[in-house]
Amino acid sequence: MSKARCAVLVSGGGTNLQALIDAERAGKLPHVEFKSVIASRPDAYALTRAEKAGIPGYVVARKGMTQEAFEQGILNLLEKDDIQLIILAGFMSILSEDFVKRYPRRILNVHPALLPAFGGKGYYGLHVHEAALARGVKVTGATVHYVNEIADGGEIILQKAVDVLPGDTPEILQRRVMEQAEWIILPQAAELAAREILER
Ligand code: GAR
Repeated sequence: MSKARCAVLVSGGGTNLQALIDAERAGKLPHVEFKSVIASRPDAYALTRAEKAGIPGYVVARKGMTQEAFEQGILNLLEKDDIQLIILAGFMSILSEDFVKRYPRRILNVHPALLPAFGGKGYYGLHVHEAALARGVKVTGATVHYVNEIADGGEIILQKAVDVLPGDTPEILQRRVMEQAEWIILPQAAELAAREILER
């Protein structure tokens, strides 16, 4: 069976990367092959997860680099492995229009809210949950979407709703959204996108 060659881009703890690794091991991603993990920070724990899973890990540091040099560093790695599918799994940099246009319907992102709510510039990581709690929403969730030139604006692939409960802090809500939504829909969307790429 052929598989889509996939790179996962990360910046932090990498629990979404772990969900992808676990899904692959459980046989739930028959059309996905993880070729590399690329981190925008040298201290990203996601790199340790990649190493434990036997996936080559690379650092292309964002800090101290121009956007252009940063993206060229990533592109070099993607081209080296002839990557077909890019998964942004807790990747905290916004990619330029030039970059995303090279990979139409080939870049996925997981976002910790029900887009279009709480998305776009400034809405990342815990800030998203802080904003949801400040607004008083009773339901939030996660979205996996294709990445285009509009931040968090690409076509939605999957979404899953999660209840907000009395007493939630941003940290508690973040964890619930990960457990009940992100870690489930990101692997599902990866398999859907990979199958689509292979059928093209
Ligand atoms: C996740 O909640 C992810 O949805 C979010 O950051 C967290 C990363 O956790 N991503 C964004 O906010 C992107 N705009 P992880 O490193 O444990 O997967």
